[in-house]
This record gives sequence, C-alpha cells and structure tokens, in this order.
Amino acid sequence: MSEKKTILITGGAGFIGSHCAELFLEYNYNVIIADNLSTGNVENANIATKFYNIDINSKDFELIFKENKIDYVLHLAAQASVGFSTREPVTDAQENILGSVNVFSLCKKYAVKKVIVASTAAVYGTPQYLPVDEAHSTKFLSFYGLSKYTMEQYLKLFEIDYIIFRFANVYGERQNSKGEAGVVAIFADKMCNNEDVTITGDGEQTRDFVYVKDIARVCLLGFESDVKNELINVSTNTGISVNDLFFKMADVLSYSKKPLYVPDRCGDIKHSILNNEKCAKLLEFIPQTSLNDGIEALLKWRMSK
Ligand SMILES: NC(=O)c1ccc[n+]([C@@H]2O[C@H](COP(=O)([O-])OP(=O)(O)OC[C@H]3O[C@@H](n4cnc5c(N)ncnc54)[C@H](O)[C@@H]3O)[C@@H](O)[C@H]2O)c1
Repeated sequence: MSEKKTILITGGAGFIGSHCAELFLEYNYNVIIADNLSTGNVENANIATKFYNIDINSKDFELIFKENKIDYVLHLAAQASVGFSTREPVTDAQENILGSVNVFSLCKKYAVKKVIVASTAAVYGTPQYLPVDEAHSTKFLSFYGLSKYTMEQYLKLFEIDYIIFRFANVYGERQNSKGEAGVVAIFADKMCNNEDVTITGDGEQTRDFVYVKDIARVCLLGFESDVKNELINVSTNTGISVNDLFFKMADVLSYSKKPLYVPDRCGDIKHSILNNEKCAKLLEFIPQTSLNDGIEALLKWRMSK
C-alpha cells in the first residue's frame, strides 16, 4: 500500500482552499492548512489534519516544514483583490511576491516534491483574441496581476517541480460576498435577501465561470499526474454575459426585481474567456460542472445557512 501523502495548503481556510482541503482529505491525504485568517474562516481550517494559524511571511512559518514531512504544497494564500492591490500595492507585493518567495524557498530547502500555485486570468490584461490561451501576451492592468505574474517567474527559477494554474473566475459555496467579491456570490447574497442587484456597464461583458469543486479536482490531478513545470489555464472555455447570469440566477431564486445599471468601472475588461485545451490535453481534465448545476449548489448552500 502506498504511503499516505502530506500536503500543505497555504490559504486553506479560504474559499478555494477549503474545497481543496476537503477533496484531499477524501482522497486520504494528511492535510495541513497554513492560514493567517485575514479573509479565511477558522471553521474551514478546523477540518484539516493540522491547522497552523500563521502568516506565510512570518519567520515561524518554517516550523511547519520542521515539524512535518511535507510531500506537496498547494500555494493559495494571497491577497486576492484587484481593488485592494490598487489601494495598497506594498501590502499586495508583500503578500503575493515576498510571501510566495518564502513559501518556495522552504519548499526547496525541505525537498518538497511538487508545488502548485494559483495564478489568474488577470495576468493577460485586455484579451487580444478569445479564448485566451497560455501563449497570449501578458499585460498588467493592476498590481494584483503583476504580483501574481511575478510570483510565477520566481517559482520557475527555484528548480522545484511545479504547476502554475491560471484560474478563470471561480465561484461556488463559501465564496465571500463582501467587498469586491465575485459577481456570483454578490448576486446570490442580494437575491436571497431580496435586495437590489447592481450591474456595472450594460451587463453585456462576459466572464468564464468555473465551479470551485472543479478547481479542487484539477489541483488533485495536478499532484497525482506526472505533469510538471507547466503553465495551465483552468477554465470552461466559454463565457456568459453578466446579464444572462443575472437572469439565470433570478430564475432559480424566483427573484423578480430588475437589475440597476451603473456606469462601467474604468479599466474593466469587456470579455474574458480562457482557452482550456492545454488542461484537457495534459491533465485530461475539463470542468464537469455546468453553470446551472454550480449555481444550484451554491444557492442550496446559501439558503441552508
Ligand atoms: N476566486 C477566484 O476567482 C480566483 C481566480 C484566480 C486566482 N485566484 C487565486 O486563488 C487563491 C485563493 O483565492 P480565494 O478566492 O480562495 O481567496 P480567499 O481570500 O478566500 O483565500 C485566500 C486565503 O489566504 C489566506 N491568506 C492571505 N494572506 C495570507 C498570508 N500572508 N499568510 C497566510 N494566509 C494568508 C486568507 O486568510 C484566505 O484564507 C488566491 O491565490 C487567488 O489569487 C482566485
């Protein structure tokens, strides 16, 4: 029988991290979560085999590697808000660049077998063509996009086996609906409370929404496959307009208010769809959850709270 593997998930108390932790536990991994709970939730962290309430930038972070034999690291801890990065570029760089460099240095020092990191469609800037593949040029419209791209470049120089996943717009249960959260979580929150829903611009902007449990699944496949040192988009390869999303969710929830349209936010990308052929080819994976099913799962969870 093969030995039980130990995975460290940084940011495991967050939205995506908590679903990954659940899946890895289900697949019989020891799951260690490291999270400073800045946006994460302690209830998510408590499911782990071990939880360290710690900052990835802290000197004590190394203790996790000293106290445990870590096979794999799934690095999700980050400052994940575009707007925050514009207001607080120093903190954004500290979290997403320096924090990541600390994680990678320790992975190298303690001979971690593979590291998977979460990057973002934001590194591509305004698409020159659709769907955007991995060969598309990069352009940074925010410090967040730049800090994530910089993280990618550091990782490549560390000589550790890695996969960089560039995720499209992730949605699903436990996503934070406050502040500058994902549009699906915000719509769900407003509609469940029968509050007005605001749409920026004409609502015809499209986004590629990928369900969070599909993200967890691709992370698991990433560790269990021989694929290494690759940059891979994770997406559905299709877009839906914000208007269509609104009407789809309104229909499921029998929400009858009309959306309120407000002017575009300067710098918003009109259409964002990521090509997922490389993911399908290398990992034999394409997201399995339709937007309808994902939204239903999210709304069921939301109404059970
Ligand atoms: N949600 C999306 O649509 C999306 C899209 C592309 C990429 N990503 C990336 O996926 C990852 C997870 O995002 P999420 O949506 O789950 O966000 P999230 O905010 O729910 O999760 C981030 C987690 O990291 C923790 N954290 C932040 N800074 C930390 C630090 N310095 N030390 C320790 N823990 C820290 C937070 O407390 C939180 O639990 C991030 O790297 C994000 O950039 C997310």
